[in-house]
Amino acid sequence: MTLRSFLGLIKDRWKLIVVVTVLAGAISAGVTARTTRMYSSGLTFFVSAQIDSSNVVQAYQANLLSQQKVQSYANLLTGHELASAVVQSTGLSIPTAQLQSRISAQAVPQTVLLRASVTSESPYQAQEIARAIARIFPGQIDRLEHTATGKASTAVVQVVEPPSFSPTPVSPEPLRNVGTGLALGLLAGLALAAAARSLDTTLKTADQVTQVLGGKPVLGVIPYDPTSRSNPVPGDGLLTGPRMEAFRKLRVSLGFIEVDTPRKVLMFTSALPNDGKSTTVCNLAIALGTVGTRTVLVECDMRRPQVGKYLGLPNGAGLTDVLLERARLEDVIQTWGDDSVDVLTSGVLPPNPGDLLGSRKMEQLIERLRERYEVVLLDMPPALALADAAAVGQYCDGAIIVARHGRTRAAQLRRVCESLASAGTPVLAGVLNMVRSRDAGGGRYGYGYGYYEAEKEQREGARLGGQARPGRGEAVAEPLAQRAKGRPGNRAMASDATPPRL
Ligand SMILES: Nc1ncnc2c1ncn2[C@@H]1O[C@H](COP(=O)(O)OP(=O)(O)OP(=O)(O)O)[C@@H](O)[C@H]1O
Ligand SMILES: [Mg+2]
Repeated sequence: MTLRSFLGLIKDRWKLIVVVTVLAGAISAGVTARTTRMYSSGLTFFVSAQIDSSNVVQAYQANLLSQQKVQSYANLLTGHELASAVVQSTGLSIPTAQLQSRISAQAVPQTVLLRASVTSESPYQAQEIARAIARIFPGQIDRLEHTATGKASTAVVQVVEPPSFSPTPVSPEPLRNVGTGLALGLLAGLALAAAARSLDTTLKTADQVTQVLGGKPVLGVIPYDPTSRSNPVPGDGLLTGPRMEAFRKLRVSLGFIEVDTPRKVLMFTSALPNDGKSTTVCNLAIALGTVGTRTVLVECDMRRPQVGKYLGLPNGAGLTDVLLERARLEDVIQTWGDDSVDVLTSGVLPPNPGDLLGSRKMEQLIERLRERYEVVLLDMPPALALADAAAVGQYCDGAIIVARHGRTRAAQLRRVCESLASAGTPVLAGVLNMVRSRDAGGGRYGYGYGYYEAEKEQREGARLGGQARPGRGEAVAEPLAQRAKGRPGNRAMASDATPPRL
């Protein structure tokens, strides 16, 4: 893993890493709080040999002897005999083995000093036990040495540091424990993040989508925009902001797909609900309308229609009424904005949407729209759960599949392609929606010049004529002032031979 991908991992999964780290820190803090506090009392013995100090050689040897003995005395300090003598002497109700485990001792290297320490739940009890050791241990050594040699003992054990008293517990150590917990949590969080990333098969880049679509291009990378829920389409028709800039790019890219075979009836579908089909298709229709392309948006989602809501149009009579011959197309088609986009909402929701959408009437309607408009956009329900997209697909020139960043899985997108292919609908391209800035490949700043320039031009257009103007560098067919005017039924219709103006 390179440093770059490591930093990318942290950036992508920082929430998981933080949660695991904080959790581990909290657990260790909880365990620390519940752990019994232990206090310690320490004391130091000095071991000396009784010799004639005027003789230097003897004094040296005696010192060496004492150093060797100190090692053995350390073991005696933690022995059963001393513990049992301490229990008897103090009258404490602690089992001898337990007391024994609470005494530790060590010889200070290269010296004749012997350190002992006692731990207990109470600092007073620890000191009391240490005091008992200070009282009992020298006598115990004296007896041992005396019995071994049969003469008076040459080794003398004296207390040089009396038992200490400390009200501060020696364990647990909250700082060390919580620090260790946080460090382990951080490592676990990083490991989990790496595992989650390697198991994550959701699509995040345009390249991944292209790969799954068998090399078909991604026409648009639409950034995630938190204002989209409250403002799914630009209310004023001005295509400003990074998301709208992306729709303008989508409009331009649309003109470049399969240029040898002009496609004008395009359906938009996706794998799952809420991938952003309706918002994408509404904004694309508006983007097309702003450059004068005669566009009709047909809402073929007869289960959860949203187009009317997003565009602020009533969804009274619509597609179903035309298909059931309860209304004429001219009477139910609505115009959004300043004559730029025609919209056929779903109409009354039927009990059998699949049958209606796959009917001969639907085919005839699409042919009529094909004759009247330069671009016909169909907003479909999700393709994995419902067969509606496949039913309508047979009458379309192709499908554009919306993939939702970080949610649509490669396998799901593949299944959508398979279901469309089985209905004979060519998949033309993809759109990657709700892309978080880090995966946008340059993000907002990558769009910088075009965005601000476009915004300026549009403001200018709005100031001069109250109209939105197309952005710089786009394939514009005609100025808005010359756009065909007219209401449903009398607007200038394009012939089939007219190429779409994108
Ligand atoms: N680029 C975006 N950034 C943030 N939110 C978005 C974006 N695109 C769409 N959304 C939001 O996602 C939600 C679903 O969008 P939309 O209705 O377009 O999805 P859909 O695929 O048509 O759903 P359905 O399958 O139900 O028809 C909406 O609240 C919409 O505002
Ligand atoms: Mg929808």
